Amino acid sequence: MSKSTNVVWHDSAVTKEERQKRNNHKSAVIWFTGLSGSGKSTISVALEKALYDRNIQTYRLDGDNVRHGLNSNLGFSPDDRKENIRRIGEVAKLMVDAGMITLTAFISPYREDRDNVRGILEEKEFIEVHVNCSLEACESRDPKGLYKKARAGEIKAFTGVDAPYEEPSSPEVVINTEELSVEESVKAILSYLRDNDYINE
Ligand code: ADX
Repeated sequence: MSKSTNVVWHDSAVTKEERQKRNNHKSAVIWFTGLSGSGKSTISVALEKALYDRNIQTYRLDGDNVRHGLNSNLGFSPDDRKENIRRIGEVAKLMVDAGMITLTAFISPYREDRDNVRGILEEKEFIEVHVNCSLEACESRDPKGLYKKARAGEIKAFTGVDAPYEEPSSPEVVINTEELSVEESVKAILSYLRDNDYINE
């Protein structure tokens, strides 16, 4: 529910389309979703570097980083996760408006919250990438030791353990990180971006 009243939208003299034309690529959000430890951050970091090296304007928003600043007042209750994703969605939309290919790496466990972000963007501006990896594999990787803590009851409502993860029903891209290397994952997403005319090379 919006609390802002008597607020009037003010257009810029530079449009999103003009920024995209100057950049020589489209702008969009590449929205990574998946369990903790599935590989979202790792792949998004490698993809951003590959895009940057191709002269593409990019910015990356990552769960663990954003929760230190913009969303430091949010925890992991369903309402807080919803607000986390809502804010990230709005920030990502601003970045798309600024002409960037924006990469986001959040568990974003609720389908409805991800769909809401899709809904505030224009057609083709939301590229949902399901970083697919079984709970067993994520748990055996346990890069931050958090599954162990969750199993020991030291973290409550941990995604996959005692909080849900809702898989995307029709993501634009699925990356199975039990089968693909980081390099192969990046290659697959670059191909998607090329095949769908987001980037030229
Ligand atoms: S989301 O569910 O709101 O999308 P987000 O991606 O921002 O989550 O943050 C997830 C990161 O927070 C995890 O990678 C992990 O490091 C940490 N974390 C701490 N507590 C939890 C929890 N209860 N469930 C999931 N992740 C947690």
